[in-house]
Amino acid sequence: MCGIIGYLGHKEAYPLLLAGLQQLEYRGYDSAGICTSSDNTLHVHKLQGRVQNLTAMSLPGTRGIGHTRWSTHGRPSDRNAHPFADGKNQFSVVHNGIIENYLELKEELRKEGVQFSSDTDSEVIVHLIAQNYQGDLRQAVLDTIKRLQGAYAFCVLKNDREEIIGVRNGSPLVVGIGVQENFLASDVSAVIEHTRNVIYLNDFECARITREGVDIRTFQGEPCPFNVKEVNWNLEQAQKQGYKHFMLKEIYEQPQVVEDSLRQSLSLKTKFSRLIIVACGTAFYAGLVGKYLIETVAKIPVTVEIASEFRYKEPLFSAQELVLAISQSGETADTLAAVRLAKQQGIGTLGLINVVDSTIAREVDQVIYTRAGPEIGVASTKAFTAQLLTLYQLAFYLAGKDFKPLHLADQLRAVLSLNDQIKDLAQKYFHYQNFLYIGRNSQYPLALEGALKLKEISYIHAEAYPAGELKHGPLALVSEETPTVALCLQDSVYQKTFSNIQEIKARGGKVIAIATEEDEKIRSISDDVIYLPKVEELFLPLLAVIPLQLFAYHIADIKECDVDKPRNLAKSVTVE
Ligand code: M6R
Repeated sequence: MCGIIGYLGHKEAYPLLLAGLQQLEYRGYDSAGICTSSDNTLHVHKLQGRVQNLTAMSLPGTRGIGHTRWSTHGRPSDRNAHPFADGKNQFSVVHNGIIENYLELKEELRKEGVQFSSDTDSEVIVHLIAQNYQGDLRQAVLDTIKRLQGAYAFCVLKNDREEIIGVRNGSPLVVGIGVQENFLASDVSAVIEHTRNVIYLNDFECARITREGVDIRTFQGEPCPFNVKEVNWNLEQAQKQGYKHFMLKEIYEQPQVVEDSLRQSLSLKTKFSRLIIVACGTAFYAGLVGKYLIETVAKIPVTVEIASEFRYKEPLFSAQELVLAISQSGETADTLAAVRLAKQQGIGTLGLINVVDSTIAREVDQVIYTRAGPEIGVASTKAFTAQLLTLYQLAFYLAGKDFKPLHLADQLRAVLSLNDQIKDLAQKYFHYQNFLYIGRNSQYPLALEGALKLKEISYIHAEAYPAGELKHGPLALVSEETPTVALCLQDSVYQKTFSNIQEIKARGGKVIAIATEEDEKIRSISDDVIYLPKVEELFLPLLAVIPLQLFAYHIADIKECDVDKPRNLAKSVTVE
């Protein structure tokens, strides 16, 4: 996720902005840059790679803006790093978020003679501001906003003005209040060293900071009342935005991930009649849900292969097949090897990747980026949701249908509101040594994902099975000492799973059911029930994963495990 900092005061801006960017590094980024202003001139230094690379030099001035970039549009490179300037080097902009209509705006600006220096969506903002400027920077920004579609926060500096303008629409931005100095930042970690007094901007608000003060307006230019809040967090708490762990923060970011994912449109270069999905871990389980979605919606056959197995097979590829690699990091060694195997055999490859310009993203024939933003917790949560969202989009695209689900993000928010209930359940069940997870159809991969989450962060043994497999062996494990998490949401196989729960109960097993609201019947055969809102069968996986993540999280937290960095595991598995 990109990071922003802006400073205007009595100190040298460059070292201060640099330190602010270092505090934003935890968000993940691939390039960084700073622009300062002195003697009516803008000075810029921006580079691909670490913030540390910017320490080799300094720029003059007591005002400036800085940015860490997590690529979305345009690969990581010096030229795509922020800040961006207009042709006359009078305006400078740093931007977080996505400008959805940038291609259209770019085309229009090009026709008017504007030359672009990057491949980003962000650069259109600075050229529009330069065009709209008639002596009032804030007004030029407000006029520019009228042309922008998407979610964004950005800050603007002008060479000869003692002010910085910041706006918020869908991406966070805070104002830090100092003494004879003020700040703008995408999160409080960047300013906490200098001030604990902050204003959290709301969407559709525009802040103007000067050395002396702050003025906040609506996007219509009307003055806005604001509250200055005192932040009591330390730096580490601020980076987690008050959440105890990154994993919990990332679980709560999922509604936003849904909204961001739905903003992107998808198109494919290749045609194929069969899809082979290759992936590892959570990404493999996303692939299993993808199989269900693509076969149900687009009627295209899909096989899903664990990459570490697939790479050592002698697959019988045939023309008209496409290999789809799913990976958050884009660096997983086995998934990469599976891609290379397909390429050697002349088979087309597609990547569904979260980290822009990662190795797999560069090696596949075509890449679709998921919109999870950086995931810091080793346990994958929001990346899984972003992978599912993109697989829905792919399934609908292949079927030639529109994918415009209503209220999905709000339904996820409703599930997140069950957190306290799930925490109580974690308290009740954390001392068990073994768990079973069961589900059928699209809920089976969710059972696998729920069991993986519990294993990897709480070190409790958990096994997942298709509910119909119980009688073929795992039923022997059922006892009072082995609770079962049963995914029994109302779908076409509901009654079958319901019967499996009865079989478990008849053998003295405890059952935590994940069920659909108003299903009173299930309460009578389960020890505990987590009720989810009613949604179309196709969308059940998106909702059902959240209680599984929260249950694993709270159990691990109660057991005082290192939730974000579980033992023996790495975030990116770059070796076999
Ligand atoms: O970066 P990738 O998506 O390729 O990673 C694949 C797995 O290593 C990853 O999903 C792993 O299973 C997670 N720790 C699960 O939470």
